[in-house]
Amino acid sequence: MGLQEVRLVDVISLRHEVLRPGQAVETCYFEGDDAETTRHYAWVEDGRVVSIATVMEVGRDFDGQTVPYQLRGMATDPAFSGRGIGSSFLQALHEAVNNSWWCNARAIAVRFYERNGLVTVGDAFDIPGIGPHYVMRTKKTAGS
Ligand SMILES: CC(C)(COP(=O)(O)OP(=O)(O)OC[C@H]1O[C@@H](n2cnc3c(N)ncnc32)[C@H](O)[C@@H]1OP(=O)(O)O)[C@@H](O)C(=O)NCCC(=O)NCCS
Repeated sequence: MGLQEVRLVDVISLRHEVLRPGQAVETCYFEGDDAETTRHYAWVEDGRVVSIATVMEVGRDFDGQTVPYQLRGMATDPAFSGRGIGSSFLQALHEAVNNSWWCNARAIAVRFYERNGLVTVGDAFDIPGIGPHYVMRTKKTAGS
């Protein structure tokens, strides 16, 4: 049980079910998925992938400081949601990435990310077809 690095193919079915339900499976492939620096992760319980996330080396400037990684495609299997798996997974991801990162968080997930050490930056914006989002980043620490 725990965090594992997996292949792109291992995250597609949960991306499809949770993040792009009813849409063509092609919509589940993101730009940068195949980049050499991209890492796909899963939280695995009894051999089953129950939560997924992808970390890309996509830097973003925040007030002159570059936050070097972007978290994308985080999703928990609905049969396992609300049990703390996403939080355990995110804490393990913080350790695996070992650097600051940012993401475009769905408004419904902001509280979840805030509880796990992220802060919103700026106002809500709309991603057509998906809904309102906030840019979030890991909290600044001394030296980051
Ligand atoms: C957000 C998500 C990854 C959290 O995973 P999880 O394993 O349920 O996480 P936890 O059990 O540690 O925490 C659950 C928290 O997520 C919130 N949440 C957000 N969307 C949820 C959903 N669709 N179902 C259940 N809980 C959801 C819950 O309200 C809860 O927050 P709260 O305790 O502050 O009320 C998961 O709910 C999910 O996949 N949601 C749909 C896809 C999504 O929004 N992904 C993030 C894209 S930026």
